[in-house]
Amino acid sequence: MERTCRNTELSIANVGQVVTLVGWVSRKRNLGSILFIDLRDRSGIIQIYVKEGMEIPDVRSEYVISVTGEVAKRKEPNPKMKTGDIEIIASKIELINTAKTTPLLIQDDTDALEEVRLKYRYLDLRRPCMQRFFDIRDQIKIITHNYLHSLGFCEIETPMLCASSPEGAKEYLVPSRLHHGSFYALPQSPQMFKQLLMIGGFERYYQIARCFRDEDLRADRQPDFTQIDIETSFLDQQQFLTMMEELIRRYFKEIVNYDVKLPLRQMTYKEAMERFGSDKPDTRFGFELKNLKETFANSSFEAYKTAESVRGITVNGVANETSRKVIDELTLEAKKFGLGGLGVIKKENGEFSGSIVKFLSDAEKADLNKIFDLKDNDIVIIAAGKDNRVTPLLGALRLKYGKKLGLIKPNTYDLLWVVDFPMFERDVETNSIVATHHPFTRPRDEDLKYMDEDPTKMLSYAYDIVINGYEAGGGTLRIYDQNVQKKIFNILGLSDQDVQDKFGYFVNALQYGTPPHAGMAFGLDRMTMILGGTENIRDVIAFPKNLAGVCPMSGAPNKVTRQQVEDLGIKFMDEEGK
Ligand code: AMO
Repeated sequence: MERTCRNTELSIANVGQVVTLVGWVSRKRNLGSILFIDLRDRSGIIQIYVKEGMEIPDVRSEYVISVTGEVAKRKEPNPKMKTGDIEIIASKIELINTAKTTPLLIQDDTDALEEVRLKYRYLDLRRPCMQRFFDIRDQIKIITHNYLHSLGFCEIETPMLCASSPEGAKEYLVPSRLHHGSFYALPQSPQMFKQLLMIGGFERYYQIARCFRDEDLRADRQPDFTQIDIETSFLDQQQFLTMMEELIRRYFKEIVNYDVKLPLRQMTYKEAMERFGSDKPDTRFGFELKNLKETFANSSFEAYKTAESVRGITVNGVANETSRKVIDELTLEAKKFGLGGLGVIKKENGEFSGSIVKFLSDAEKADLNKIFDLKDNDIVIIAAGKDNRVTPLLGALRLKYGKKLGLIKPNTYDLLWVVDFPMFERDVETNSIVATHHPFTRPRDEDLKYMDEDPTKMLSYAYDIVINGYEAGGGTLRIYDQNVQKKIFNILGLSDQDVQDKFGYFVNALQYGTPPHAGMAFGLDRMTMILGGTENIRDVIAFPKNLAGVCPMSGAPNKVTRQQVEDLGIKFMDEEGK
């Protein structure tokens, strides 16, 4: 039986027509002698009415069937359904395929555990809410292709099997069968290739690029993810950002019908850290960080007086629920950030209480009242210690309370650029210098003078697009001077010989008329999360890995045969590591 249309193409205008539909049985309801079947196809659900006495095959949930019948007006319309005004009066129902009982309900509301959803991902993907995420993902790609092509961009693929390169995260390595002992690395991003394409004269490149990073996974991180990767020549930072803002505006307008006001706000990294304790601030609510260094400059509380940094936040209206247990939880959080603990002060009936209050002078209390504009039932959380621990801790607590207290209105969007990132930062654990973005980022001209004296003072031409507290994308102007590039590698601990061995090809290429160039990459998965309204990156990736980096459906990563491994020139170690 040939399909005449898709379910939701039908409306009241088609009443009286005879149609043939195909799809899955979403639900079957027996009302005495008559039967209703909800038929689901890719477009949506339509109700099938099976008259009393009609002979039909045995149909059950998720069976694949075809239905022929007349479109009729429904006696009791269902306004929740797109096809709620009509139904099909079946004249023929054919069974195309049967289905086992599914381990999860194929509907938006499911109580299935995520592990089950991932194991039977092909069934999970049948749920309409899941299909919506992939429509959004697809729309983002279409908008990107259309917009960038209208501006003369060329889409170019770059290799998946690459030479190892330094970009922060650990790389996935692929052993070479033909060159035992040598490895390809999977790309963390096409960074060097896209710069080489600029040297190659393309001027405007983009690619929907698969990237691989062996990092600890989080709700917004996958080991195998996708970037909308862009590079341009001959644009300055503002020209480039303006071009990208229009792309962002189109995503929001065309996908969620939201008008993004351009130009987007720009906030320096310094301001973002000082006010929000994060380089990806969610600015939709307050509880901003305050610097308390001066308040405690002469404090009798030695820990605060001598600390490199003392900062605090206030949370309004929670003193009465800040029990000993809550304070213990906050302290545990502080420990995760490498601090010994934190101070919690409650204000109730005009009085301060809490374990650190006995150390505070009247002047310090007055200062806190003024700085935080404290009212009854507010709390102040104070952290002291190394600034690169204090600030992110308070940023994380601010966010936790903002979410917990429901201060973020659903379906609101907060977009801004964070700019002027430091070139380098010190690793919290090892204190060694690492690149904040990546080693190809151009230092600001006015900061080149710090290169020899103290490179950690240098700021860079770098920008991140931050949406609702997510880093949705990031990029930089690039170094196009080989000497500066070599120096940056040296600062990162690579000798000239290391540079020649590892990136000789890249540094050499910079000598052949490299144009000034700039680019960025959007996280396609994160953009889809934001526009789709989910906080779980696995919802927007067809076949994702779980938090342990495992695909519960296919079992990847899986064991391979000894022979396969030996062909690659790799020897198995026994349990003692020999
Ligand atoms: P960056 O490392 O900032 O920059 O990555 C760009 C964007 O990719 C997304 N992203 C991720 N999404 C999901 N899972 C991950 N593990 C993951 N890691 C990153 C984020 C991020 O903003 N080559 C540079 C870009 C450039 O300078 O042009 C780069 O890769 O949304």
